[in-house]
Amino acid sequence: MLTSSSGQSSLDDSDLTIGTASALGVSNANLAAFYSAHWVRAICLGHEDFLVWQMCEAPESQGKNASVVALMGTQLVAAMGVTPANFQLDGAPLNAAALTTWIVLPEARGMGIGQRMLAFLQENYDVLAGAGISAAALPLYLGAGFSFLAHVPRFFCITDFRQIRNFVDTSDAALKLTDRRQKARTWRDWQATPCRAGELRQQASAGLETLAHFRRDVADLTWRYDRHPTFEYEAFAVNSSNNAGHGMGVILREDRIGGCPILHLVDLFGDAHDADAALSFVEDEALRRSAAFVDFSGTSGALTALFRARGWSSAVDDPLVELPSLFHPVELRHPPTTSVVLWSHDRRESLFDFGRLHLTKSDLDLDRPVLNHKNETQP
Ligand SMILES: CC(C)(COP(=O)(O)OP(=O)(O)OC[C@H]1O[C@@H](n2cnc3c(N)ncnc32)[C@H](O)[C@@H]1OP(=O)(O)O)[C@@H](O)C(=O)NCCC(=O)NCCS
Repeated sequence: MLTSSSGQSSLDDSDLTIGTASALGVSNANLAAFYSAHWVRAICLGHEDFLVWQMCEAPESQGKNASVVALMGTQLVAAMGVTPANFQLDGAPLNAAALTTWIVLPEARGMGIGQRMLAFLQENYDVLAGAGISAAALPLYLGAGFSFLAHVPRFFCITDFRQIRNFVDTSDAALKLTDRRQKARTWRDWQATPCRAGELRQQASAGLETLAHFRRDVADLTWRYDRHPTFEYEAFAVNSSNNAGHGMGVILREDRIGGCPILHLVDLFGDAHDADAALSFVEDEALRRSAAFVDFSGTSGALTALFRARGWSSAVDDPLVELPSLFHPVELRHPPTTSVVLWSHDRRESLFDFGRLHLTKSDLDLDRPVLNHKNETQP
């Protein structure tokens, strides 16, 4: 029973149940309605079909919704979206969960429900990860032993210096210098074969072997990219023309903002020998499509070094050009990237080695449609 008087809430412990939505009989429709009613902004998890794709159709979900909910009697008072996943750490497959969109109803806050939801998750998984952490949630995560990465590295390459003016307010001198830095990169011949994302399993397993990462096997890649309910991702296998390595997997998503194309490099993995060729391909694609820029977000130290070496700009560290990260509508937040929290049951040192962690926009559903996205991109 939840009661409130003089702004103070009191919790009858015996009335509180915490568990998964499927175990406690909270339907997908109810959960979508809860998100729709209580999240601060309109959110695609408020649509049952999107929620079912994200929570129930992921390969490790086995058709069930593993989101954690809190019931006060029969009233739903809290929910945290959970997508079970396989996480590879130190070469071992671990039982993991990607966390998203956590709400405790305002009248039930400050009663320990949030902390109990985290404890429930920690009892049931070996690895937990979430992105876009709010100021309200951060103390709970830190208190529960999570590690916080405030700024996920993000890099961009400007490919149309006229169109970029739609997104940035920067001096001509800063753009000229950015152009000069980008031109210092080494262009490599490439061969790119369009394919289904599910066909990039080999590039993923070879390239990610030594890194901590959410597994990307056929089922994962197919679910995440080939069967996305909103976005049309484009997948490519890219090799150097001299066949230096075993190839890289590239996942692109083109977006249009006010008629101007922009390109997101959503995922990149594979043989490091082909990395320069893969990025030469991506930069050429952005130019061919007249995209204003191409951007990438990810944690891996090797990829970070690659983007820096190719003269891409860091959205976190380089002060010359501030490129927004939100486009529906265009909004500049400082810094224009996101945060993540990570927790491991007994492999903290390995997991918290962020340079050896491969998290990209595809993980934790960082590349998620906003509700008016369809209106902007569909004719
Ligand atoms: C974040 C949220 C889920 C927390 O749920 P909750 O049930 O109120 O959290 P709890 O009652 O379990 O715990 C709150 C704890 O945070 C602590 N806390 C709050 N602000 C703090 C601060 N600035 N520094 C340190 N601790 C702080 C409280 O003291 C309390 O700990 P205590 O019980 O040991 O005193 C809830 O506030 C919420 O829904 N917020 C809006 C949506 C949101 O931000 N979601 C998270 C997206 S990542």
